[in-house]
Amino acid sequence: MAEELSWETVRVEFENGIAWVTLNRPDKRNAMSPQLNAEMIEVLETLEADDRAGVIVLTGSGESFSAGMDLKEYFRKVDTAPEHVQLKVRRDCSMWQWRMLRVYSKPTIAMVNGWCFGGAFVPLIACDLAIASDEAQFGLSEVNWGIPPGNLVTKALSEVVGYRNALMYIMTGNTFNGVEAAQMGLVNSSVPLEKLREATVELAENLLAKNPIVLRAAKLGFKHSRDMSWGQAEDYLYAKLEQSQFLDPESGREQGLKQFLDDKRIRPGLQTYERSVTTAG
Ligand code: COA
Repeated sequence: MAEELSWETVRVEFENGIAWVTLNRPDKRNAMSPQLNAEMIEVLETLEADDRAGVIVLTGSGESFSAGMDLKEYFRKVDTAPEHVQLKVRRDCSMWQWRMLRVYSKPTIAMVNGWCFGGAFVPLIACDLAIASDEAQFGLSEVNWGIPPGNLVTKALSEVVGYRNALMYIMTGNTFNGVEAAQMGLVNSSVPLEKLREATVELAENLLAKNPIVLRAAKLGFKHSRDMSWGQAEDYLYAKLEQSQFLDPESGREQGLKQFLDDKRIRPGLQTYERSVTTAG
């Protein structure tokens, strides 16, 4: 790894356009404490401005992606804190886990390397894409320790998983593995643990070859239009398309049309246009 930034609970490494963001509390199975939540806001703000980060990969150190919210630091300790502290703790949690991550300006991939419980489903689902190891274990364990799923866990789950599976795991707290997570659409695919990083790099490289302005418009268009009527979505998506043309410094659309229609160099059904400018690396 060439370059690295580090916070107390999060490590960031840059490699060929990928920013590997690792939740780094392995002895606590990367449970998300108020400190980790506050640091992740800084991490995402920092990476937004860093050209070395073309694609963000979110993962966990050791044998865990994340064991969810830290039951001691996020719940028990905060129970007795003054109200303004409780409000900040909750706000920081939502801020990075979905408010920033779900509509992040750069493509995001969750790489689920191991345990993934409860609150960890929110950043997992907020990422654009996700790959798990076959061996990873997922669970909505909240019911096992006496609460319904908190924050936006349930809402996030309903975006990607069907009705029966969602309620089955919300109500039983049963675990499932990476293969099952892929079957139900919670992650895009699963691979054996030893292939996980390689598969993630391959996916990230695909995204890095694309025009970042177009990718941003495409992902935001998809995410926001889900909550709109067809009429609103039509207007918004046309506006998004025109915005991306207007903001695109490499005039991707014109390059793509020229390379296909005039030069006959590419077939866009099968490959991306040849960019004269490339993303971070
Ligand atoms: N919050 C706080 N601490 C946690 C934690 C969490 N969510 N998950 C793990 N830890 C801590 C344990 O308390 C333990 O700390 P200690 O060494 O100071 O005693 C350490 O991490 C290791 O946990 P342990 O249970 O011994 O690890 P394991 O590898 O045997 O099991 C898990 C891993 C993830 C299955 C297990 O830790 C677990 O069930 N965690 C809770 C998961 C959960 O319900 N999350 C939902 C939160 S919304």
